[in-house]
Amino acid sequence: MARTFFVGGNFKMNGSKKSIHEIIERLNNTKLPENVEVVIAPPAPYLQQAVTENKQKTVYVSAQNSFDKASGAYTGEVSVEALKDLGVPYVILGHSERRTINKEDDAFIASKTKFALDQGLKVILCIGETLEEKQANITLDVVKRQLQAVVDVVSDWTNIVVAYEPVWAIGTGLAATPSDAQDVHKQIRDFLATVIGKDQAEKVRILYGGSVNGKNAVEFRDKADVDGFLVGGASLKPEFVDIINSRN
Ligand code: G3P
Repeated sequence: MARTFFVGGNFKMNGSKKSIHEIIERLNNTKLPENVEVVIAPPAPYLQQAVTENKQKTVYVSAQNSFDKASGAYTGEVSVEALKDLGVPYVILGHSERRTINKEDDAFIASKTKFALDQGLKVILCIGETLEEKQANITLDVVKRQLQAVVDVVSDWTNIVVAYEPVWAIGTGLAATPSDAQDVHKQIRDFLATVIGKDQAEKVRILYGGSVNGKNAVEFRDKADVDGFLVGGASLKPEFVDIINSRN
């Protein structure tokens, strides 16, 4: 089945009013392919600006995180309600940097995913193994465990986009080969078919993330289970447009 190609830009903790304005203006002034869904995820302080300045109907704004409670004494957390109030439709959850730096475990990420979905947001759910786990040949065990935690609490995956991001490829310049990525994506989709049903599994977009850039994105073009990318560093640069165009 045809899944809409999806390119997400995770700005991480980077940018300023000026630089984010420049990125959005670059996208506004580019004829983007109508068959590609683009998401930009600036740091939380710039979400309102991004929503206001974005003029492209195929570009959507995402938060980089949200909490699993509606409101209350949770200093520093980002509420789903606030994101909806701003008109932000997406949120990235489970990014490996939040799993390692912020010590977010599978259960907490699943709880945040369920809460965000129940409140009407769409979720970009990040999974992926560390270098040690790859070297121990337990990549599939890891990604299945990360996915199962969400399967245990969420049955409707309509509004989940999965991002497979091998931790050893993030920020290293060493992207997974397109063939290796396809192998893992296929096994992710096959696993999802066993736990959420084949129909849903066929519809779920599975993105690759980890050192994607304007040059290597096209190498994934013929990989049937690579439905797009979640891009870090390159999303801050003009080559982000090349990645968006890489499937056409
Ligand atoms: O969320 C995407 C990010 O982790 C990938 O980072 O800089 O390797 O594209 P980068």
